[in-house]
Amino acid sequence: MSVTLPAPAKINIGLQVVGRRDDGYHLLHTLFQVLDWGDTITLEPRETGVTLEVTGPHSSAIPTNETNLAVKAAQILQKEMDTNRGIHIVLDKQIPPGSGLGGGSSDAATVLKGLNRLWGAGLSDDLLELVAARLGADVPLFIRGGLQLGESIGDRLTPLSSRLVGAIVLAIPDIHISTPWAFSQLAKSGGYSSPVSLDRLIAMSSIPWDDFVNDFEPVVFAAHPELRAIKEGLLELGAVYASLSGSGGTVFGFFEEEPAPLSSLKSFFGPHQVIRTKAAF
Ligand code: C5P
Repeated sequence: MSVTLPAPAKINIGLQVVGRRDDGYHLLHTLFQVLDWGDTITLEPRETGVTLEVTGPHSSAIPTNETNLAVKAAQILQKEMDTNRGIHIVLDKQIPPGSGLGGGSSDAATVLKGLNRLWGAGLSDDLLELVAARLGADVPLFIRGGLQLGESIGDRLTPLSSRLVGAIVLAIPDIHISTPWAFSQLAKSGGYSSPVSLDRLIAMSSIPWDDFVNDFEPVVFAAHPELRAIKEGLLELGAVYASLSGSGGTVFGFFEEEPAPLSSLKSFFGPHQVIRTKAAF
C-alpha cells in the first residue's frame, strides 16, 4: 500500500537576522507560514533500499542520490527504527529549488511523516521534529506546518493560533539566490537587527504589516533590482504586504481582498512563474 502526501512550500513573514552562532549559523527571528501549494510525495514500499524518482518541471535540477534530503530522511528513519525495510519515493517537484520556499526541507519532513505512518513507527510530532532538525534548520517547521514563530537557527518553533485569511500570490523569478551568499552580504552590510515581537504583531486585530521586515531585502534587491520591481508590482496590485521569502528569489504578496485573476497576474509579471495560493492551517 502506498501513501501520497503534500509537501507544501513556506513563506517568511518578516525575517530578521539577529546574530551568529560560533559554528557560523545565523540566529533568526521569523514567522513561517506553510502554504496550500507545493510538491507531492508518494511513498511505495519496497523490500530493501531507498530510491528516489523525481517528476515535474524541476526534475532535471534535483539529485536523486543520497545527497537529496528526501533520501537522507528515509535513511535516518531506517536507522532510528533499526530496520532495513525499503522505500521508493516519487517526488513531484513543483517548488523550484533555491527559491526561498523551503521545498527540499518540506520534501524531507514529508518523507519522515509518511514513513512514520507507513512503517508504524509511532513517533510523536515532538520526536519527528527532533529527527527533522538533524536534516536541516528548516525541516522541523514542516512536521506541524501552519503558522509558526521561528527562532534560534529557525528550528526553535512556536505554533501560533492566528490565521491569515486571504490570497497569497507568489512571483517566482528564474533567479537562484545562494543562502550562504546572502548571509555573507548581510555580515558585510552592518550589524544584526533587534527582534520585534512578530507573534504579537500578527495577533493584532489590524495587523501592522509595515512592521514586518526581511533583512535580506536590501542586499538581495541591490544585486537583483528586478525583485524590488516585483515587490512594488504586488503592492500596486493591492497586496497589503509584499516581501522576499527567505533569501529569495521568490517575492510574495498577501491580499486581504480578492486579487486580480491569475491570467492578469501572469501577464503583469511577464516571464516570472506566478502561483496563487493561500495559507494552510
Ligand atoms: O538551510 P539551508 O540549507 O538553506 O542553509 C544553507 C546555508 O545557509 C547554511 O549552510 C549556512 O551557511 C547558511 N545558514 C545560516 N544560518 C541559518 C540557516 C542557514 O547561516 N539559520
